[in-house]
Amino acid sequence: MSRAPVDVEIERFAALLRAGEIVAFPTETVYGLGADATSSDAVLKIYETKGRPRFNPLIVHVADLEMAKSLVEMSPLAEKLARFWPGPLTLVLPKRKDATLSDLVTAGLDTVGVRVPDHPLALALIRAAGLPLAAPSANRSGKLSPTTAAQVRTAFAGLVPVLDGGPSQSGVESTILAVDGDTVTQLRAGALAREEIEALLGQPVALAKAGDAIAAPGMLASHYAPNAKLRLNATSPRPGEAYLGFGSGQATLNLSPTGDLREAARNLFSMLHELDASAAAIAVAPIPHTGLGEAINDRLKRAAAPRD
Ligand code: TXA
Ligand code: MG
Repeated sequence: MSRAPVDVEIERFAALLRAGEIVAFPTETVYGLGADATSSDAVLKIYETKGRPRFNPLIVHVADLEMAKSLVEMSPLAEKLARFWPGPLTLVLPKRKDATLSDLVTAGLDTVGVRVPDHPLALALIRAAGLPLAAPSANRSGKLSPTTAAQVRTAFAGLVPVLDGGPSQSGVESTILAVDGDTVTQLRAGALAREEIEALLGQPVALAKAGDAIAAPGMLASHYAPNAKLRLNATSPRPGEAYLGFGSGQATLNLSPTGDLREAARNLFSMLHELDASAAAIAVAPIPHTGLGEAINDRLKRAAAPRD
């Protein structure tokens, strides 16, 4: 029996994802630019393609509750909120120890934003790929989020394959909630109204404020910060400092001995974590401000910023 054209199309896109390529796909909120969330090389392509100047944590799209549970710890409260799935709700939850997600998806955090999109093609694609998909909106950085396949094709000049699922229903991104113990905090207002969430929970939802440890996107305070003191643009370490190198030369760890920015981006969070575990102070070599260097420097600057 011959398969329906849409199944063939889904299988083609799933194969691209499994091969580490990025594809655009429809969701009920906006079109997403998706990549295998377990592969740093694949996730880097999202940043390169969007021209995103910073590494923010990305939302991980899964097909169902069971797949979500393979990545994050789901408390009874989180599971109650998951009744909105499939739907425009992202839950930020503790990452499971055994979850094989790229550090670039979580931007080094120990939490993950997950959601089950309410679009048949998105769900079919995730299932066919057999992978959790990291996906920000499929627009160039700083531009409007796309709600049609044509907008995505235009934005990326036809360079990204687009799975056409018709116009997105909502046109507004998902609502993002962080669930921490008994507390539910809205990090981003979105397509699911807070009143609906409060009605289900029977308890108020707090709002994130700028400067909160986990703050709303846009405010973008949420990022991994090491305990160790960070000194940037250091050409050599001072006594007592571990040295995170870039390019040739002596270093405790080297982001990329050959000076490759993609390799450096891939190693950034894991090496900071590793040095943070053993050193009280970390000096970081200068990183060129070109290509992915912009995002690397942005992350380093935030990680080094004074905290209270
Ligand atoms: O509607 C949507 O949510 C769309 C469609 C494509 O699904 N996706 C989307 O993804 O807007 P993205 O990756 O652009 O959203 C990222 C935002 C980040 O700015 C961040 O604030 C929040 O999600 N986020 C993700 N993981 C987080 C985490 N572990 N902690 C705090 N915030 C997180
Ligand atoms: Mg966006």
